[in-house]
Amino acid sequence: MKVIAIANQKGGIGKTTTAAALSAGLKQRGFKVLAVDVDPQGNLSTSTGANNYEMPTVYEMLKGEVDANEAIQKLDVFDIIPSNVMLAGAEQELSQIGKEQRLKERLLPIMDFYDYIVIDTPPALGVLTINAFTVADEIIIPTTAGIFAATGIKQLHDTIINVRKYCNEKVKIAGILLTRYDPRANNNKDMKDLTEQLGEYINAKLFNTHIRASIVVEESQARQIDVFSYKGKSTVAQDYTAWIDEYLKGVCS
Ligand SMILES: Nc1ncnc2c1ncn2[C@@H]1O[C@H](COP(=O)(O)OP(=O)(O)O)[C@@H](O)[C@H]1O
Ligand SMILES: [Mg+2]
Repeated sequence: MKVIAIANQKGGIGKTTTAAALSAGLKQRGFKVLAVDVDPQGNLSTSTGANNYEMPTVYEMLKGEVDANEAIQKLDVFDIIPSNVMLAGAEQELSQIGKEQRLKERLLPIMDFYDYIVIDTPPALGVLTINAFTVADEIIIPTTAGIFAATGIKQLHDTIINVRKYCNEKVKIAGILLTRYDPRANNNKDMKDLTEQLGEYINAKLFNTHIRASIVVEESQARQIDVFSYKGKSTVAQDYTAWIDEYLKGVCS
């Protein structure tokens, strides 16, 4: 059993897309997968077609009103605990003592039913993301290749160091994943610069596989179909397949 948090406090860089592709890809490889949407925007929930308005969500689960079991929806693509905008109140509503541990406490009873739990986080380094890091074994950091990508990663790295110190000493960074990659716009020099800047800030590997930019991502999300089932031969489906292979190889070796 492994818990993976997908995180970066910057929005729009492919966290939710990566969480969905990783969850779907692992399930298609025969693993038992639970995705947990810990973002009040609920993009993972809506892009998979989970019911996040009539059924219990991660918000009720964190408040202790329902058990994890009652919040899980078994979709064809993977199991999911959805979220919606109510979760935005969690920061204030979770009691102060032990509030970083809440997600871990709530997920513990169901963990052994799954091979992988994949957590999508909001674009912030607040209490929700800290909850995800506290239960996680590994963190995957999607990022784009833009010039300022590296500075935000330093802040993220500092947060992870603090989580290790106070909440979860075992959590590690599995790697940094370049997403929305455009081989024409992101030239070799940009890539070299990014790699060097990242090296200054963070001791983590950049995955060899990059996820190329493709309209197929938005199309599949609008249709609420995972990218592999929607267009398995598309560049982006191939990239995510190659990346999951690379990720699993690292896990096994
Ligand atoms: N590889 C990609 N190619 C093209 N568009 C992408 C790609 N990955 C994500 N997107 C699009 O970019 C936007 C932000 O992606 P998302 O995964 O929601 O990022 P985040 O969760 O970090 O905010 C979405 O509209 C999504 O459809
Ligand atoms: Mg998102």
